[in-house]
Amino acid sequence: MPRFSRITLAVTGGIAAYKCCEFVRALKKTGSDVHVAMTEHAAAFVGPVTFEALSGHPVAMTEWAPGPQGAMPHIGLNQSSDLLVVMPATANIIAKAAHGIADDLVSTLIAARRQPVLFVPAMNRFMWDNPANQRNVETLRRDGCFFAGPASGFQACGDVGAGRMLEPSEVLDLMDGLTVPKSLEGRRVVVTAGPTFEPIDDVRGITNRSSGRQGFDVARAARDAGADVTLIAGPCPLPTPAGVKRIDAVTAADMAAAVAGTLEGRGADLFIGVAAVADWRVTNARAGKIKKTDGRLPELQFEENVDILRMVGERGDVKITIGFAAEAENLEAYARDKCQRKGASLIVGNIAREALGGAENSVLFVTPDSAEAFGPAPKRDVADEIIRRASQILTKN
Ligand SMILES: Cc1cc2nc3c(=O)[nH]c(=O)nc-3n(C[C@H](O)[C@H](O)[C@H](O)COP(=O)(O)O)c2cc1C
Repeated sequence: MPRFSRITLAVTGGIAAYKCCEFVRALKKTGSDVHVAMTEHAAAFVGPVTFEALSGHPVAMTEWAPGPQGAMPHIGLNQSSDLLVVMPATANIIAKAAHGIADDLVSTLIAARRQPVLFVPAMNRFMWDNPANQRNVETLRRDGCFFAGPASGFQACGDVGAGRMLEPSEVLDLMDGLTVPKSLEGRRVVVTAGPTFEPIDDVRGITNRSSGRQGFDVARAARDAGADVTLIAGPCPLPTPAGVKRIDAVTAADMAAAVAGTLEGRGADLFIGVAAVADWRVTNARAGKIKKTDGRLPELQFEENVDILRMVGERGDVKITIGFAAEAENLEAYARDKCQRKGASLIVGNIAREALGGAENSVLFVTPDSAEAFGPAPKRDVADEIIRRASQILTKN
């Protein structure tokens, strides 16, 4: 279940209102209860009947007619939700909210808020950059409101620039982390995730069963804690967490080069190596496809890949390094040995057959002088715990 499961969605009059239909559906799929309120102008873009059908509740548009939320929907809708999402948020509603104006249902709802409010702005780039709008956004941020986006890119009006609404999937991705303490604010974090793929020829290769989910969740947790996050991912089809910079890598050598390139000149506060990096690569990999010749098996030769965790430790430009150890047995002993050999502050040990591919993980947090079990728990909870411990170590150093 998501952290916020009772949502009031306030739709205002922007062209991106149609994307809210998809947002309501996605929220419902997570098991959330969604109530929709709309401005008069929003209803010019998408009819309330659509939102009523998608949310399963009547849509609130006015305070001046009796409705299912009682005589005062601006109170009832706030009482019955734990997050108010204003999406798309027009320049108009941002201006009204920043000044406490309450002259229709949506603005009165925002004025009477008691729960966190998330604005998802969408507007033409000149409207977004307008100094009055920027002042209003700043006022709302200072008042404790959250903002998701806007993104930059092509706009419905033909302009290119900042003001484009985030995709509904990106908003969903960011929602859970809104109220997480910003323990990594101003910190630079580099995370690796997923498997690597070592070619044998142009069509075959050696890989492993890592899904990338644990590493992607670590990147999300670091982002939610306020960090600037770069995620270096092996081949895995997972969507990039919103607000995280992703670099794709295929082989262990690619991944090592991407890590080195990311650290070059800037270093990082924290490196978390979650990727299941191949220990060896095939030195006699061939171009084309090795033919299946009767009776003759191909002979593969191997050499060791770069050890990325050790490489990062030896660079000296990363304050804290954290590694993963996926083992089949003797977890604590192997993890402690890895921690000492590679100069890591923390090794997260897990049993490979349980951890790879699944939705949950049981881990052992191993430092040179301690070992603590955590889980079984969803990988996102494990990721939050890793970030909590990493923040503590960073604060101490
Ligand atoms: C076709 C059209 C598209 C619009 N798109 C946007 C938009 O994306 N963002 C925005 O801030 N205003 C947009 N506007 C202007 C708002 O609809 C206008 O400021 C309105 O007063 C907003 O009312 P509301 O905030 O109460 O919904 C658009 C207007 C029209 C006619």
